[in-house]
Amino acid sequence: MSTSITINGHPVPLPDDPRVSLLDFLREHLDLTGTKKGCDQGACGACTVLLDGEQRILSCLALAVQYQGRAITSVEGLAAGGALHPLQQAFIEHDGFQCGYCTPGQLCSALGMEAELRRGVPSYVTEDLAAESIGCSDDEVRERMSGNLCRCGAYNGIVAAVKEHHVHLHTSAAAREAS
Ligand code: FES
Ligand code: FES
Repeated sequence: MSTSITINGHPVPLPDDPRVSLLDFLREHLDLTGTKKGCDQGACGACTVLLDGEQRILSCLALAVQYQGRAITSVEGLAAGGALHPLQQAFIEHDGFQCGYCTPGQLCSALGMEAELRRGVPSYVTEDLAAESIGCSDDEVRERMSGNLCRCGAYNGIVAAVKEHHVHLHTSAAAREAS
């Protein structure tokens, strides 16, 4: 069985100590300090990373060894080829942050949220459970991102950025289908 974990596309050996949280593994062992420790008890979302590119998990509540053989993406893995991820760009354009402490978690969480919309997973505020697709309304974004707190209160910018990224994804998909 593999004794490694893939972090941002690179396989790395798991820690010898099985008690190391995924968050501490990223920050203290791999020096990937983009993922933030806010509460360290599952309440703030600052430590959110992605499992297999689309499932959001709280790395403070996870053990690194739990994800043996799996792929984890942290904020450091979002930009590609020297270019910011379109969602990162949208956060800049819409002032989706002030101090930036919550931003890595917000970014990973928003990408996980987008994947949930794609899979048609309803939220508490989804009105039409029989609809073919779930829209990306303000209410949906606020509900689905409610696990990510922002002490600076940049929520309006965050919602605007997430919605713009959603539109960007659908515009790109439509352009690909038309070509
Ligand atoms: S640091 Fe993990 S939820 Fe707050
Ligand atoms: S931008 Fe400061 S906590 Fe969110």
